[in-house]
Amino acid sequence: MEFDTMAGMKRTNMCGELNTSNENQEVILTGWVAKNRKLGGVNFVTLRDRTGIVQLAFNDATNKSVFEKSELLKSEYVIAVRGNVIKRSPENINKDMKTGEIEVFVTELRILNGSETPPFYIEEDIDTNDALRLKYRYLDLRRPDMQKNMILRHKVAKIARDYFDENGFLEIETPMLTKSTPEGARDYLVPSRVQKGKFYALPQSPQQYKQLLMLAGYDRYFQVVRCFRDEDLRADRQPEFTQLDMELSFVDIDTIIEINEGFLKRVFKEAINIDIQTPFIRMPYSEAMDRYGSDKPDTRFGMEFIDISEEVKNCEFKVFTGAIENGGSVRCINAKGLGDKMTRKTLDNLGEYVKTYKAKGMAWIVVEDRNLRSQIAKFFTDDELDAILKKADAETGDTILIIADKNDVVYDALGNLRLEVARRFDLIDNSKLNFLWVTDFPLFEYSEEEDRYVAKHHPFTHPVDEDIDKLETEPQNVRAKAYDIILNGNEIGGGSLRIFNSELQEKMFKALGFSHEEAWNRFGYLMEAFKYGTPPHGGLAYGLDRLVMIMAGCDSIRDVIAFPKVQTASELMMKSPSVVDKKQLDELGIDVNIDIEDEEKENPDNE
Ligand code: AMO
Repeated sequence: MEFDTMAGMKRTNMCGELNTSNENQEVILTGWVAKNRKLGGVNFVTLRDRTGIVQLAFNDATNKSVFEKSELLKSEYVIAVRGNVIKRSPENINKDMKTGEIEVFVTELRILNGSETPPFYIEEDIDTNDALRLKYRYLDLRRPDMQKNMILRHKVAKIARDYFDENGFLEIETPMLTKSTPEGARDYLVPSRVQKGKFYALPQSPQQYKQLLMLAGYDRYFQVVRCFRDEDLRADRQPEFTQLDMELSFVDIDTIIEINEGFLKRVFKEAINIDIQTPFIRMPYSEAMDRYGSDKPDTRFGMEFIDISEEVKNCEFKVFTGAIENGGSVRCINAKGLGDKMTRKTLDNLGEYVKTYKAKGMAWIVVEDRNLRSQIAKFFTDDELDAILKKADAETGDTILIIADKNDVVYDALGNLRLEVARRFDLIDNSKLNFLWVTDFPLFEYSEEEDRYVAKHHPFTHPVDEDIDKLETEPQNVRAKAYDIILNGNEIGGGSLRIFNSELQEKMFKALGFSHEEAWNRFGYLMEAFKYGTPPHGGLAYGLDRLVMIMAGCDSIRDVIAFPKVQTASELMMKSPSVVDKKQLDELGIDVNIDIEDEEKENPDNE
């Protein structure tokens, strides 16, 4: 088939923007054929572009040649049309279509290109497997819901740039080919050709550069920046993701929080027209753990933790008393009013669920009318049972779910159980937007793997002043001037005030187990820099993908990233990562001694 040119067909309007105010205008439109159907002597074609769809009408009686040409059209053909905007008669108005009050009577049709039949429908809410969508991502991205997400993402970044610009921030780019940074994940490495045997690391975040920009006097820095972390993929984690990153000099935590609440208020209003109330609640880390067992609690529903260690400490049940004697605790949640739904099968299933979080099991008590249903009631006296029920505020119909273990395990298992019960029994109000600052994080956490304390955020985080003396003696009790911003149980951002004094920085490295030489070898440039008049400073970075995911109402950040990666860290359309020529490897001085072909057979390009 021979195709037409666009000569003389300069687009006048976008499809989705036409309405009755365009009545009787001659317009030129371009786009893709979404649907076509024939009704008597008229062909109706829905034309789609980025802004939406509009109905075109080709009439056999008034314009025979154009009508005949329109019979060649198939899905996803690319066309340009000239036509007149006509108001539809009342009975033909389509209320489900933004442009449903009008249609365009076509007087000239140019077929600019054809299309194979796409492997899935180019429409909203398709039921197609993700691997196919990602293999044909360019077609997937043509679907209206993906286009909506991409447009939203653009708006959020644009509003961020405007807002931070208006608040005195400068956008400054930092290198992508850089040095390993201690953000906690594995680095992506890039070999150097010029200096064989040496590697750049892609940045896990611009953390050190932005601190150096403060030292350099830029006062307020901002960047929409790609970050790279070689960690396991999850719904909210990609190997490359985007941060809205910032750093400010001469500020305290309150100022950073205030500026960011201002940003979130503005971006929710301007991008999706939602008013959010500020200031947000601030909750110390210890309280978040105590009430929800999580440093990113979803506060859209209750079911908070209840500590019943005191009530059960003298009971006959060794699992409970043993946990307490080993320094752990016994805690429960009250699944209110769900007794009828808590069948033995469901309870066994939840018991299995908590095992994935290292709990040995889950005890339960279902409060029925004049009766308790429980696998553990026999171990308790009536007084003990009364005390447990009283502490848990249990009434007929309630179910008490109990975990006893080391505190870390109790937090993790019961915290996740709380979320699972809420999901299974539909206890979450999806219309809510619950923002929360979690503050006063511990500065360190113990790494079993490395058998030493590691930084919970990163080693540049400032300790709370009154805890500095404990850096060497009780590292586990040192709090950090760090804060995370949580939205509906998702960590959408995090930051801290930084150490700006080289002596304190060195003390910090010492507490992390680095010798003076090791610290200087790795971070000498930073400690050297800190000697030259470093202002007090601090900052924050949002996960842009996560923020947009929640704003778009999606469950995975993949849906707001144009070309995301799958579980195996592959990108299915271009098929990266891929094998490279031997010549390229030789230039880099790299010898790959893995049988790649076998590897590729084992990891086919799907999930
Ligand atoms: P942090 O490591 O907490 O802090 O990262 C900031 C935010 O980035 C998002 N995020 C991710 N999003 C998608 N995929 C990932 N793999 C991923 N990892 C992190 C999260 C997180 O809250 N330099 C510090 C910030 C600072 O202190 O200013 C930093 O990178 O939403």
